[in-house]
Amino acid sequence: MCGIIGYVGARPCRDILFQGLRKLEYRGYDSAGLSIIRDGQFELLHSVGNLDNLEEILHRVGNGGTMGIAHTRWATHGRPSTENAHPHTDCTGRFAIVLNGIVENYMSLRAMLRAEGHEFTSETDAEVVAHLIERAYAGSLRDAVVAAYRQMEGHFTYCAITTDEPDLIVGVRKETPLVVGLGKDENFLASAIPAFMAETRTVLFPEDGQVVVITRDTVELYTLDGDPVPCEWTHVDWDEEAAEKGGYETFMLKEIHEQPTSLADTLAERIGPDGGISLDGLELAPEAIKALKQVLIVACGTSYHAGLVGKYALERWARVPVEVEVASEFRYRDPVIGEDTLCIAISQSGETADTLAAMRLARSAGARVLAVTNIVGSQATREADGVLFTRAGLEIGVAATKTFLTQELAVLLLALNFAEVRGTLSEEQVRAYTEELRRIPGLLDHYFASGAAAEVEDVARKYSGSRFFLCLGRNLGLPVALEGALKLKEISYIPTDAYAAGEMKHGPIALLEEGSPVLVVATDSFVYDKLISNVQEVKARGALIIAVASEGNENIAGMADDVLWVPKTDEMLAPLVAIVPLQLFAYYTAKAKGEKVDQPRNLAKTVTVE
Ligand code: F6R
Repeated sequence: MCGIIGYVGARPCRDILFQGLRKLEYRGYDSAGLSIIRDGQFELLHSVGNLDNLEEILHRVGNGGTMGIAHTRWATHGRPSTENAHPHTDCTGRFAIVLNGIVENYMSLRAMLRAEGHEFTSETDAEVVAHLIERAYAGSLRDAVVAAYRQMEGHFTYCAITTDEPDLIVGVRKETPLVVGLGKDENFLASAIPAFMAETRTVLFPEDGQVVVITRDTVELYTLDGDPVPCEWTHVDWDEEAAEKGGYETFMLKEIHEQPTSLADTLAERIGPDGGISLDGLELAPEAIKALKQVLIVACGTSYHAGLVGKYALERWARVPVEVEVASEFRYRDPVIGEDTLCIAISQSGETADTLAAMRLARSAGARVLAVTNIVGSQATREADGVLFTRAGLEIGVAATKTFLTQELAVLLLALNFAEVRGTLSEEQVRAYTEELRRIPGLLDHYFASGAAAEVEDVARKYSGSRFFLCLGRNLGLPVALEGALKLKEISYIPTDAYAAGEMKHGPIALLEEGSPVLVVATDSFVYDKLISNVQEVKARGALIIAVASEGNENIAGMADDVLWVPKTDEMLAPLVAIVPLQLFAYYTAKAKGEKVDQPRNLAKTVTVE
């Protein structure tokens, strides 16, 4: 799970490559490197740690070369070190490669290459690619890249260059991203569009097993058998500013504040003037929605929590049984599903390996597959029968925030749409919900404008020395509690557990002692009174209560030690507002501890490994 970029053109490329890596750093940041061809020779640079370390030594490479490849790494095979940093080269020093993904059969390939006399300088799986290319090369880099590809198992994207053909870069992909950028007198290859967005917005998404060859003036696409494939170019109209911090101290804080806009964008054109819902791209006929017997939601991490919100909504509104499964577990099950099952895969990146595998399994068992994702052109969109896009815009902070809110909104819209089609809610009921949904972006705008973030910061500071947090919720408050706990774990590194409040007395209550901080999602709900009984149980053990509560709730103020107020809305839509103070709480706790919020340790934004 790494970021790669390649450039060939008329301009000196060192700084272009480095700036591209900066935009890809969210994909991994434990080591980095680049390789530039100048005067027929490679200039290579490797560093350990984040890109600041590479920047410090960048001057060691002259800025004369006009083609090269670069990489920012998230270690899979081999610890972070300069030896394991990409680009990797072959024995003769004529080939260099960068790779994202995993070469699953690298051990046997390595053994074979070693037996033939190849010498390895790293512990990585990726290095075999440089040697495979060296072994196969007979005058055409494209052919050698294909020969290597045919021997490799796993999922990966790699780009290769050679001093023998110093005017071209060859790239190929298998189940991991590769995008081509078309410039004037220059062209780009990268893992993601932001890497070259400052230079061009005309892009091409090669398919799995297509080989792309770029030179300064040409972009050519081929099948593995060498047949040309027409290039279908797309224009992306993302705002470049969106990839910058826009005045906030971190991407995460900026993205938390962008949530009203992300929600409004995700809602746009999906609610008609009559309050009905229209969702383009689902590719589901009304008859198929009516005939549904089961919905299966597969996802990981934060996206899984959005899936749980979907379960409550789909069951309550559309009266269809729903299972929500962690994709990494589901993919190894033997599920009982069939043609009347709809599998909904939720993945902001659309590239998560486990979620993709779960989609494939569901499909092979006969289910239709719908992807809910934020990334146009991602793998999930290519493999699903239908797609529902969230429109959160680019999310750079590793901890998901605005993509989560838009995922929640997407599943709520889906549930309302299904309820409408299945006739399980009346037109009036659907209209009432859609009207309320339309109010949410404004409610959150007002929330931020009223200085709520600063109030959360004060509370977070107070508890930032805690050794442990417990998060509790019931019903739709449970996914919110789980997500709040995940945010705390990811960025503040404070151990945090999350539980269904009613389940607490079956074990976790033993953790509580005088002064233990407990975050409770206590927004208005039909289970509010039940939740309050659990709060009393917690208080009786001397624990401190930090409640997330709906404005106007007078009862909670006397009970909780601190209250994080949220705008009042319908209880079914409350997860859209209730998570925001918990995101902020995690953020300010991490900040008070001096943690690097945008790049939490051991994590990466896109998890393309199993
Ligand atoms: C948490 C987080 C991860 C992702 C998970 C799935 O803040 O970001 O838990 O939610 O890795 O990623 P996607 O949604 O890209 O499939």
